This record gives sequence, C-alpha cells and structure tokens, in this order.
Amino acid sequence: MSGTAHLPSIAKIASYPEAVSYDTITTTPASPHIGAEIGGIDLTKPLSNKQVQELHDAFARYQVIFFRDQKISFEDQIRLAGYFGPLGKHVGASTISKKTDNDLVRKFHYDETSKQISGENFHSDQSCAAVPPLGSMLYNHTVPPDGGGDTMFASMYAAYDSLSPRMKTYLKGLTATHDGTRVFGPGTPVSVHPVITRHPVTGREVIYVNHDFTSHINELPRLEGERVLQLLIDHCNKPEWTCRFRWRAHSIAFWDNRCTHHKAIWDYWPNVRSGFRVQIEGTAPPVAA
Ligand code: SIN
Repeated sequence: MSGTAHLPSIAKIASYPEAVSYDTITTTPASPHIGAEIGGIDLTKPLSNKQVQELHDAFARYQVIFFRDQKISFEDQIRLAGYFGPLGKHVGASTISKKTDNDLVRKFHYDETSKQISGENFHSDQSCAAVPPLGSMLYNHTVPPDGGGDTMFASMYAAYDSLSPRMKTYLKGLTATHDGTRVFGPGTPVSVHPVITRHPVTGREVIYVNHDFTSHINELPRLEGERVLQLLIDHCNKPEWTCRFRWRAHSIAFWDNRCTHHKAIWDYWPNVRSGFRVQIEGTAPPVAA
C-alpha cells in the first residue's frame, strides 16, 4: 500500500452537479464537476418567473451554463443577464476588448489583425475589484470555420474539495493581493481578498486566487508565499475540474465568476471569432470561509 493510499482520489471528490430535472429547461452536463448546456428555452423573449428560477438553480449548480442557437440582440443579452442582477462595467482600461455604443456591452472581436486576445490564462474576471463581478456572459455570433477558439472553465469548488485537510487548514485565514495593474495598467484597482472564500449562494468553499490578478499572499514570507501561490494556481487549473466549451455561431457561455476560472484558447488565427460580453455586478466583497 502506498503512503498516500488513504487519500481520496479525484474521482471521489463530491460532485455538485448531480442529475437534476427541471420543469421548463433541459440540462446536459459538460463534465462531472462543472458546466451544463441548457436547452428548451428561447432567449429572444422575456422569461417566466419559473424559467428564471430554474436558470438560477442551474447556474448555482453547474457554475457555468451554455446555450446554443440563440440569435440574441444587445437588448436580449442585457435582459437575460439582468435576471441575475444589475449589469456592471469593466474596471480596467482593456484595449483588447472594445467599447460598443452601449456602455454595458463590450465587443470581443478577433481577426487576422489581432495581436492578442483577452483571457488567455486561467483567471476570474477583475478579481482586483473590491467587489468583483458576480458573473460574465459572452455571446459569440461568429466562430472560426474549422473549429478552435474554445473556452475552458475550471471549478474552484472541486479544486478546493480536493485539497488535503491540512492544506485547507493552512490556507484558511490567509489573504492575497489582487493587482489590476498587472493586467490593465495604471489606475486599475488593487484589492485584498481571502485565499479561501465562501460562495454567497451555495455556501461552498472556493480557492480564490488566480494567475492574472493575484500578486502575492499577504501573511507569508516572500519565498514561501510565492511557492504556495504557484502551487495553488497550478492546482486550480488541473484538467480534472475543467470543462471545455466548443463554440458554435450564436452560442452563449454564462459563468459564475465567484467560483470558476476561465481561459480562452487562441488557436484560430487568422480566422474571425466575434461576439459581445456583459458582466453582472457582484453583491458584496468575497467573504472568508
Ligand atoms: C474572457 O472573458 O476572458 C474571454 C473569454 C473568451 O473569449 O472565451
């Protein structure tokens, strides 16, 4: 028997997205730990209270939900996101995504002239803000003709659950600095958040550091802090708790920014991938678990 045979295997980590049936929508899980495609719904029309309630439940359960074949307008996208809270604005001066004529909608467009795309490392959106966004909703109307341009999502619940009890104890009580200037340059917020947070809706514990924004762990000596942060970032982005969304034209991905990381894959240059993103304001600063 190996020295680690008593530890839980990844397959035994509690998996929140157990099978569930809804009255107004269908769900097809994308992986054991994160993601589901939602069917049986038309997002070009206002939704009933029951549809909204079931979408809220699916969003909490699956952490990222996907929709197909929805030819939505700005108005439709804003209405759909608005069922989850007031829409917010990007905290950084991002030059990769662009403004549109609607302050709440940003354009995510890449083509043969693109030098860079947004979000190539696993991250949570704008964790540098005092109150980071609750979630983001990306709609892509145009996708590369031969595939590519997938987005990966990672469950920070599953990442937390798989830590050893000793590591969980060690991390609780620590805080980390999230520095927006690393990504968006001067003038972007810098905030301190707990390393382990508790999700305000599900009550589940989450690892809350990410590659892009987290500069250091505040309470640890420099070298120890650097190594622990790197260990966590590597751990958070293990394939075991990810799913990969293959875009088709007129698809939507809507992720819970409080318990997921995501990463955009730029394997389609010089082809075009184009769409629009809105974000929903967070309700409170991340709370320590
Ligand atoms: C992002 O929001 O970071 C980009 C996601 C994507 O383009 O797939």
